[in-house]
Amino acid sequence: MDLTLTEEQRMIRDMARDFAQKELAPKAAERDENDEFPRQDLRKMGELGLLGLTVPEAYDGFKVDTVSYCLAMEEIARACAATSLVMTVHCTPAIYPIVYFGSEEQKRRCLPHMASGEWLGAFALTEAGAGSDAASISTTAVREGDEYVLNGVKSWITTGDEARILIVFATVDRSKGHKGITAFIVDSQRPGFRVGKHEEKMGMRASHTTEVILEDYRAPLSDLLGEEGQGFKIALGTLDASRIGIAAQAVGIAQAALDTALRYAQERCQFGQPIAQFQAIQWMLADMATRVEAARLLTWQAALKQDRGERCTKEASMAKLFASEVSTWVCDRALQIHGGYGYSREYPVERYYRDARVTRIYEGTSEIQRLVIATQLLRGS
Ligand code: CAA
Repeated sequence: MDLTLTEEQRMIRDMARDFAQKELAPKAAERDENDEFPRQDLRKMGELGLLGLTVPEAYDGFKVDTVSYCLAMEEIARACAATSLVMTVHCTPAIYPIVYFGSEEQKRRCLPHMASGEWLGAFALTEAGAGSDAASISTTAVREGDEYVLNGVKSWITTGDEARILIVFATVDRSKGHKGITAFIVDSQRPGFRVGKHEEKMGMRASHTTEVILEDYRAPLSDLLGEEGQGFKIALGTLDASRIGIAAQAVGIAQAALDTALRYAQERCQFGQPIAQFQAIQWMLADMATRVEAARLLTWQAALKQDRGERCTKEASMAKLFASEVSTWVCDRALQIHGGYGYSREYPVERYYRDARVTRIYEGTSEIQRLVIATQLLRGS
């Protein structure tokens, strides 16, 4: 397998790195401190094409292969993880279902605005009582003539307060279990849509996470995504793709922590020499770098499989599981290398540590990834 990046992949990575280091990295600490949503920079990312990387050209997008997308995601996460969270939810779980399950009319109506970043997207599956057990959602969709009436409360919705388009999952018949789940394109500007509680999070603070409340929200038939009852498969198929993006995000945060630790170890002197001269620190750095590289390669493997058009459920879960666990481990080591300073807000490692932690939880916890991997192994996939 040739792991050399193509000219185009290098260009996308360098463009994302250049933008992220100049525009995002210097503001990341302050935004984290103030829970400040990166509105202006997302606009610039839209202009650069970074929010349209999963949208086909036919709908004014800048569709690239998944490895290129991962490279861009890694660079944005390396500079500001919270901004990368808005980007990943927009580019995959919000855009992917429209690209792969949407009608021609839905694609023409939504995708150009989403590719430019004018409309941000969100994915509303989770509820207070339906997290890992996603099939147990209780938001209802009742057909009334040419409309569905949606009622329910969605929880933990990334960009819930800023998104224009949300992919909402509701059940048309709870007795049918996952076969009753149906997907809708919800427009936050229509009556019946309301933003609820804002979550006070440990990390990723510049990315907003809210409840989304649907009260007699009337979705026209033209907003039904796919077919009635197809929603659960749309959700899980989408998560296969989006977990690759979360893996790339986790690699980006880990790389940032490694970069910072490497720099610090060469500057910080104790016992008359830079601490990088001590084997205890060198071994930590070596293990950190090795794991980051392994996580990156596992992520690319899943990306390559997706681009071959093959089902990548197992590989996406492996990449997400491994990269998120590596990311939190590497951030912990980086913090340790910084000693007391690592525990202070003066240095960015405590933010990396807080940001990385959630990658083991959202888009399926590490335990759910293991369940998915084991199920696939036992089926012989
Ligand atoms: N793609 C398509 N279809 C799939 C699939 C996949 N990857 N995996 C399973 N299915 C199908 C199955 O074939 C089955 O269909 P049939 O009944 O027709 O055979 C159906 O889905 C149900 O499958 P399971 O019985 O395996 O489903 P389950 O109820 O046991 O749940 C689960 C499986 C893996 C636990 C799933 O519920 C899951 O992934 N849970 C985690 C939810 C999650 O990741 N939430 C993240 C929220 S989004 C988020 O975090 C975004 C953000 O803002 C950051």
